[in-house]
Amino acid sequence: MEKDIKSNKKVRIVGYQSGKHDVSYCILENGIPIIHEELERLIRIKEPWGDGLKMYFERIGEESKVDYFAFGNPYFAYTNGKWDSRCSSKETNDLRDKVLARDNAEFHTIGHHKSHAANAFYSSNFNNALVFTLDGGGVEENGTSHALTVWQGEDNKLTPIELIPITTLNVGSPWRLYTGEIFGLSSGYPKGNQSGTVMAMACVGDSNKYFNDFYEGFVIGGGGHNPKVWDNCKKYKEIANKSEQDKFDVAASLQKATEMVIKNVMQQYIDKYNPTNICLSGGVSLNCLMTGKMLDWWPNIKFYADPIPYDGGLCLGASRYLWHHILDNPRIEWKDNTTSYLGPKYNKEDVLNSLQESELDWTEASDEKVIDLICDQKIISVFGGGSESGRRALGNRSILADPRNENMKDIINKKVKHRQWFRPFAPSILREEVKNWFEHDIDSPYMSFVLKFKESIRNKAKAVVHFDGSGRLQTVTKNDNKWYYNFISIFKEKTGVPILLNTSFNDREPIVETPQDAINCYKGTDIDYLYFYDYNILVKK
Ligand SMILES: [Fe+2]
Repeated sequence: MEKDIKSNKKVRIVGYQSGKHDVSYCILENGIPIIHEELERLIRIKEPWGDGLKMYFERIGEESKVDYFAFGNPYFAYTNGKWDSRCSSKETNDLRDKVLARDNAEFHTIGHHKSHAANAFYSSNFNNALVFTLDGGGVEENGTSHALTVWQGEDNKLTPIELIPITTLNVGSPWRLYTGEIFGLSSGYPKGNQSGTVMAMACVGDSNKYFNDFYEGFVIGGGGHNPKVWDNCKKYKEIANKSEQDKFDVAASLQKATEMVIKNVMQQYIDKYNPTNICLSGGVSLNCLMTGKMLDWWPNIKFYADPIPYDGGLCLGASRYLWHHILDNPRIEWKDNTTSYLGPKYNKEDVLNSLQESELDWTEASDEKVIDLICDQKIISVFGGGSESGRRALGNRSILADPRNENMKDIINKKVKHRQWFRPFAPSILREEVKNWFEHDIDSPYMSFVLKFKESIRNKAKAVVHFDGSGRLQTVTKNDNKWYYNFISIFKEKTGVPILLNTSFNDREPIVETPQDAINCYKGTDIDYLYFYDYNILVKK
């Protein structure tokens, strides 16, 4: 793993988050994130409990200089006055205290929603914005719990406007329950939260059929403590089990109720504060069907979605809050989407060593040759650069294919992903082409918004157009990812289509992290080729 993390000159903040899921750590140097890693990528199990501080010491070591520790998830694994031993240990905290004393460093605890809001606002280029955080619940420094909060971001300061009590409104926690109870899908460890599957179903159901019950479940608040939510679980599990279409209707009603409840709450603050810009964070903002609709609800407002809006971004948000708000450092103007690829990079030797052990054949190949293979309807897994931070593969750990082939979705499902037939695959599109293909012309570098394709063009990229004509697009610029931008450009030159089908490089496990993970996934599936694009190494079984 390659990363210059030994520098002694810059102010270094180590952020971490421990708890029941999304365990992670990061390092900021002078306010700029240089690494961010999540535990699940390393241990290859989704959403494990764990200790982000322990992870930091294991990955980076205790000898590195630290100026500040920022802990972004207070109390989350703290019950009955005690830390759960899976999330915190005396040895690790002692080690932190030793480093604090040695480096004359400081330790800060930053609230859950404050950290979400900070990661959204400070990673945006907005000088002022209204910031909404929407999730299943988190605790602030003073011990209060919330699932929806509103902040005002102004230059380098972030001020709370309203922290709605969790007992008044909670959207995320009912979603977790419904995903598991009604639909029988995983809602966390060890398979991860599959609420994306519910969103895919929502596009093919009747959204008015059961709307009222779900809407009421949200506005009563309290999440898992709300009897209405449990009644809904029981009632709609029975209905959803009747037929596939019934399941879709339940999903669609749940989705519409979610959209309406969030829209109504946000509208109150929009009316009052009349913002030009809005930032979104919290796990519920991964509901990109909803975030896409916000562009239609409020066409005069600019939106920015946190690249890591779930709790995996808390360590980054806590660190950014410390750097800008507490330490009063000026805002940083982001020239590219540097939050996308904060994982470690691997050198050629790492790749060759893993290949040697695998006994797989490889040859040297150019990007042009690999694009020819894609045009020849082959499925290519690509690996290069730093791994993506966040839930979405954005070209560095991706499986790519020809979007023009309407059968491609079924082919990828059969050969690799084993997903339900109704789940869509995403389009990666050159940024300047968005206006020609979609009904809105926006930046979506982190796949945060679902937009409608223009009707006239849908038949040109059938594999990435969902049943309702939508796509969860990733917009790609040269600054974001030079290799990926050039790669898609070659495809465009050959086919006239500036889009590639992009799905994460994994098969029901966390996204691959190391070259060895990539080889394991490649060997265990029927992906046609594996391309280590940094070194032009093309692997074939
Ligand atoms: Fe959260």
